[in-house]
Amino acid sequence: MTTVLVVALLVVAAALILRWRRPAWYWLAFGVALAVLRVSVRYASVMDACGLTVPPSRFRLTLARMAGRPAPESRAPRVLRIRPTRTGLVLRVKLRPGQDAFDFAASCDRLRHSFGMYAVTAREVKSGVVELRMTGYDVLKRVQMPAKTEAGPLRVAVALRDDGAVLYRDYRTVPHALNIGATQSGKSVYQRRLVAELARQPVALAGIDCKQGMELGPLARRFSALAEDPDSAAELLDALAERMAGIYRLIRREQQISVDIPDADIAADIFDLPEHLRPVPIVLLIDEVAELALFTTKEEEKRRDRIITALVRLAQLGRAAGIYVEVCGQRFGSELGKGITMLRAQLTGRTAHRVNDETSANMAFGDIAPDAVLAAIQIPREMPGVAVVADSIGWARTRTPFTTLRQAVNVCNRHAHLTPDVPELAPFRPVLTPAVPPKPLHAPDAVAVESATA
Ligand SMILES: Nc1ncnc2c1ncn2[C@@H]1O[C@H](COP(=O)(O)OP(=O)(O)OP(=O)(O)O)[C@@H](O)[C@H]1O
Ligand SMILES: [Mg+2]
Repeated sequence: MTTVLVVALLVVAAALILRWRRPAWYWLAFGVALAVLRVSVRYASVMDACGLTVPPSRFRLTLARMAGRPAPESRAPRVLRIRPTRTGLVLRVKLRPGQDAFDFAASCDRLRHSFGMYAVTAREVKSGVVELRMTGYDVLKRVQMPAKTEAGPLRVAVALRDDGAVLYRDYRTVPHALNIGATQSGKSVYQRRLVAELARQPVALAGIDCKQGMELGPLARRFSALAEDPDSAAELLDALAERMAGIYRLIRREQQISVDIPDADIAADIFDLPEHLRPVPIVLLIDEVAELALFTTKEEEKRRDRIITALVRLAQLGRAAGIYVEVCGQRFGSELGKGITMLRAQLTGRTAHRVNDETSANMAFGDIAPDAVLAAIQIPREMPGVAVVADSIGWARTRTPFTTLRQAVNVCNRHAHLTPDVPELAPFRPVLTPAVPPKPLHAPDAVAVESATA
């Protein structure tokens, strides 16, 4: 008896410690079984309490009256499936006549605490079927990506959503994207993660990093082109526009539309070309985009117009030529001048890390998902890397797994052999110098130079 008691106490203590220190392990060891039990037992009463049941139909009432039985109870939506996942549960329910998916979306908070879960989201997966995704713990606190994801060519697993699903950046479906956020909100870490994931794929990476290459410079081995100031950025963008024109000429030559060619074989983008002719896709990553739009002199103003025009052209026409644009910046609005809102309109994917004011959030979401604006302002300062992603059907909170610069450098160096040679970008290929250990400031030479210049 005492042994059983001691073992039970040890199990409870282990569960409590796991729950506190390693909620993901706790969920897999204990949480998932308890949650399935809790949801199954409480389901009918919770649905009733949340007002998600329907009164008995006239037919059932008549039957009960004819049989002399008491009036039947209200019925909860039928459970089609309950599926435990790595981070929570997924419950699929079939709506009863008269019910609406919106009722479930509006009751998510009530369902969350009634089922004792951390978060609940609802969405209609097909007509009359609602999926309730529940998470058992705060999955964004310590992001752990699943070992197996559905990543593929030009589709990378970039972050975890708050409902436990993986967020993919799919360049084939959303070619261009905008990522905004205040300083220290996690934009560069997000971009680093993208680079580290894309580095393993047969794509060319081009970068514009006006912080003198501080963020992208260390990853240079995997970059086919890198510009570290606005002047070289202008030239790089012109080279990309030239490549785009060349690819269009190639596609045009290969189209050969005749009555014998089936519709599916007519080339409309680089992926329709035969493999031996297909140009390598290019992802252009721009950090601190505002630097490209600022000017003080007339000369700089000309350069700025040239840059923005080239960017607008790439964002408008680049997709079919396999050129994708990923823009990061602190703000990206009309105060940056002519052409910016036109460029923004071409950037379909929208991500906002923590922002300091509503206007900044509006720059990302104002025109597509006004609800997401408030969510972006509410991201806490102590959770860098948390972001809101939105499209026209909804929004979600996400967080990128923390990727250190060293990890990203290691991945890029390991996959440096995949860096393709893009002839048009050859002048921008980063020069790789062997690393020289920095001299400490108080070294005798440094002191001598300082005193000589004093
Ligand atoms: N996903 C994350 N998980 C945990 N910590 C993060 C994450 N992303 C960022 N951080 C922390 O926040 C710090 C700032 O991140 P980052 O450099 O990406 O910000 P930023 O938005 O690019 O800032 P700036 O505009 O000044 O360049 C990082 O050094 C890191 O400590
Ligand atoms: Mg940054």
